[in-house]
Amino acid sequence: MFSFEIIERFKNTPTPFYYYNLELLKDTLRIVKEESEKYNYHVHYALKANSNVEILETIQSYGLGADCVSGNEITRAKELGFPSEKIAFAGVGKSDEEINTGLENDIFCFNCESIPELTVIDELAQKKNKIANIALRINPNVEANTHHYITTGLEENKFGINRWELENVLEILQTLKNVKLIGLHFHIGSQITDLSNFKGLCLRVNEIQKWFYEHQIIVKHINVGGGLGINYENPKQELIPDFSSYFSLFNDLLELRPQQELHFELGRSIVGQCGTLISKVLYVKKGINTNFAIIDAGMTELIRPALYQAFHKIENLTSIDDVNERYDVVGPICESSDSFGKALLLPTTTRGDMIAINSCGAYGEVMASQYNLRKLPKSIY
Ligand code: LLP
Repeated sequence: MFSFEIIERFKNTPTPFYYYNLELLKDTLRIVKEESEKYNYHVHYALKANSNVEILETIQSYGLGADCVSGNEITRAKELGFPSEKIAFAGVGKSDEEINTGLENDIFCFNCESIPELTVIDELAQKKNKIANIALRINPNVEANTHHYITTGLEENKFGINRWELENVLEILQTLKNVKLIGLHFHIGSQITDLSNFKGLCLRVNEIQKWFYEHQIIVKHINVGGGLGINYENPKQELIPDFSSYFSLFNDLLELRPQQELHFELGRSIVGQCGTLISKVLYVKKGINTNFAIIDAGMTELIRPALYQAFHKIENLTSIDDVNERYDVVGPICESSDSFGKALLLPTTTRGDMIAINSCGAYGEVMASQYNLRKLPKSIY
């Protein structure tokens, strides 16, 4: 995947760092646009996946909207040119200050997750003499078959409003004068690679829409969230996810009413494959069954393997030896969970070898920490 020139450039850059392939990002964005525009769908990029300035500028230049989950994400999206009318603001615990940021920027929509939140948005909007557009985040109770930490659409999750609360929500909405219901919002989880899970979501949205219709409510916007997964096992086989099948599934199965518009909040599928964490081997240490390759990147730079047992494909970029040996690739942090993979087959690896951890564009750099007083990773493009 990396040319000789790029590897030479890597050798002159202090490790660890994130490397972003902006050409791949652009190719991905072109396909997202082509496939979504076939059906006039709106795509809001989920900033939480990667809010790196260069990445955001590239995404913005393709005309996508923004899906934000904090006041600071709204501010950054605005600074980088995402128009207010394309910014959605989600999150189960929006603070007053963050709600005010949304109101001051006249964003497209607040995705509301509870009755108390609705009343607070109403109060704050009233103080500013504004009407806030809101969508109800409804818990679809659809299984996403992904890691339980990133499943969000089930009734026992903290997210969203449950079906049995809806009557009450509608009654309360009638008393609130400074919020306007414009949409329904759903999200079932992340890293979903089996598209049939989205089929379940479509059918549930149709059912819920029927319920609203019976209550004489047709909202203008339906937002089905994000969640399309990427290929972590064989990234090179599928650098760009199958957006064509993804959008066409919604076109086939989701029943929109006339004039209704469909929105998506995609994060991982847009940026996941364009980022690689580059690290160097510090030491190779003999273990009982395998060797340890101790690298200079750790859970501080990429927490996904430690937190979700996530798999990221690892390559040795500099060893020309084709003898395959087994290594536990681990970081320098004083935690046993600071491991990127066990008994991985790699060419004979020695101190100074350059290691690539693939598919780190989403939820990599954004989740980095300064644990052990380490520096935050730099990025190159
Ligand atoms: N919309 C909502 C309401 C969300 O909660 C999320 C992600 C997205 C959209 C974007 O989902 P995506 O298209 O990226 O799957 N840190 C975890 C992933 C957490 C996802 C949180 N919500 C990981 O590293 O796998």
